[in-house]
Amino acid sequence: MKLIIANWKAYITSGKAAKELVAEITKQKISKEVELVLCPPAIFFADLQKSRSKKFSFGLQNIFWERRGAYTGEITLDMLDDFSVKYIILGHSERRMHAGETDEIINKKVKAALSAELKVVLCVGEREREDPKSVPVFVGEQVKRSLAGINPIQLKDLVVAYEPIWAIGTGVPDTPHDALSAAIYIRKIISEMYGAKVGAGIKVLYGGSVNSTNVSSFVNQDGIDGVLVGKASTDKKEFVEILRNV
Ligand code: PGA
Repeated sequence: MKLIIANWKAYITSGKAAKELVAEITKQKISKEVELVLCPPAIFFADLQKSRSKKFSFGLQNIFWERRGAYTGEITLDMLDDFSVKYIILGHSERRMHAGETDEIINKKVKAALSAELKVVLCVGEREREDPKSVPVFVGEQVKRSLAGINPIQLKDLVVAYEPIWAIGTGVPDTPHDALSAAIYIRKIISEMYGAKVGAGIKVLYGGSVNSTNVSSFVNQDGIDGVLVGKASTDKKEFVEILRNV
């Protein structure tokens, strides 16, 4: 089973465009070997609930760690009660960069989302790969800090997306070989923290310039459990091709 997460970011800016994209995806035959998750901007969620389908589930691109209260501008877990949301993307490099999210903030969000029985897609990745032969210690530190102090039982709902920043939106993806090394390294760190059984059970995805031409080279790796697709997931034709080529 391969997990495909479509992160629409802020590329889709109208309810009409969001509905059209969902309608197009709903027309496609999705392989039984694929679990598909669509993550539109939260503001379109209410409208999109009518377009729910068994072919995919919905995810959010971010969440706040408190459930309710004096938190101007935030979307909180209690607000999700009326919606069908299964996954939450957390720690995306664009939130680290533009919204100042630190590993400590991300850790609070991961804990809150897992406690609310949501599935978490934790994004990690280095800015530059200085030594192509080794995944930077930096990624290990991000994993350690973001996952500190979590009840290991809740980690069954954790997915980690390895997304090297230099590969996001640049058209220059990582090689499947190096992405696989990173996935192995991430599982090793989690095994050291929570035991080999937990580490082995964690799904690890690759993200960064995934498109219809390269998607199969990533998902065909045994140790890579799927992909997180950004820009290409908002282009109807390209995303349909991606779904065909998984
Ligand atoms: P991209 O983004 O596919 O546009 O490179 C991936 C991501 O940031 O999740």
